[in-house]
Amino acid sequence: MTHFRTLEWTGSALRLLDQRRLPAETIYLDLGDAREVAEAIRTMVVRGAPAIGAAAAYGLALAAQRAPAERLLDALEEAAEVLRRSRPTAVNLFWAIQRVMDKVHANHALDADALRALVLSEAHAIAEEDVAVNKRIAQHGQSLVPDGATIIHHCNTGSLATVDYGTALGVIRYAHEIGKRIHVYLDETRPRLQGAKLSAWELNQLGVPHTVIVDGASGFVMRRHKVDLCIVGADRIAANGDTANKIGTYNLALVARAHGVPFYVAAPTSTIDLSIRSGDEIPIEERGADEVACVGATRVVPEGSPVLNYAFDVTPAHLITAIITEAGVVYPPYEEGLARAVRSRSEAR
Ligand code: MRU
Repeated sequence: MTHFRTLEWTGSALRLLDQRRLPAETIYLDLGDAREVAEAIRTMVVRGAPAIGAAAAYGLALAAQRAPAERLLDALEEAAEVLRRSRPTAVNLFWAIQRVMDKVHANHALDADALRALVLSEAHAIAEEDVAVNKRIAQHGQSLVPDGATIIHHCNTGSLATVDYGTALGVIRYAHEIGKRIHVYLDETRPRLQGAKLSAWELNQLGVPHTVIVDGASGFVMRRHKVDLCIVGADRIAANGDTANKIGTYNLALVARAHGVPFYVAAPTSTIDLSIRSGDEIPIEERGADEVACVGATRVVPEGSPVLNYAFDVTPAHLITAIITEAGVVYPPYEEGLARAVRSRSEAR
């Protein structure tokens, strides 16, 4: 059982667990408008593709609540734009905003209170569906996780990165819940340490056996220990299966290929972006130099040495053994299978 809520609607505010303070402190922030939500996404109070999508949807609900009736539609368009600018790579952000705004446009003739209620109920639907979708991903993933498996995982893809349960970590925790004896090596995930700080915090609470390693250790761990599979999440999957995920994912996939270890991506269909053909078109966020140059409050890179801080990379489809979605496991070549998975989501709604 996890004893925290990544994000929660209080009735008048969006309550976020401040992930920057974990694992030392469990502190919640109540946000009252869309600009605060956008800032929380930008500064990574909330992070992880599905979680920022749901947070943005609630950001629109806050914008609707605060706007006077005569400005409601304009205020929603403005809030949508502010939220879209918060982070560029995870497509769930744009997907969730578009889903809410499509609902708004289709119902623009409603009176202000009805429209406010509609925006909020769409945000709730996005949040609730995310949990159900993750549990389906976890079940579909079991065919790929043998009893006794040793697994390498990158970044954080658990309850903290989603509304609850998780994607890749959801597959892992479900394997543990149904009694498989697994062991997980967690890449620490420089520079923000989502693996060391967040995934380890989650697996500790869940009682899943795990060991934290530095990102550069995965090759040697594969050589020294029997590793059965790698599993990671995704921020955006192009139509051909190329997958953007946390920086270091591509290296892990290359190392896995060199050792003959299967490399799986677990993601909801809301992470699949059929509007782009390949990973070359995925916008990759670059973050501030201090994330790399400083460890805590201490600068470790000499002043004057430039830093390049790509927050994500793209793993080419040919290095991915399969993609686990809520609609089932998709195998290469990916075009048809991913398109079918996305269609099944729209048909289900
Ligand atoms: O920069 P972050 O922490 O938002 O990056 C998160 C990741 O890259 C996750 O692996 C991805 O969003 C999948 S989360 C289910």
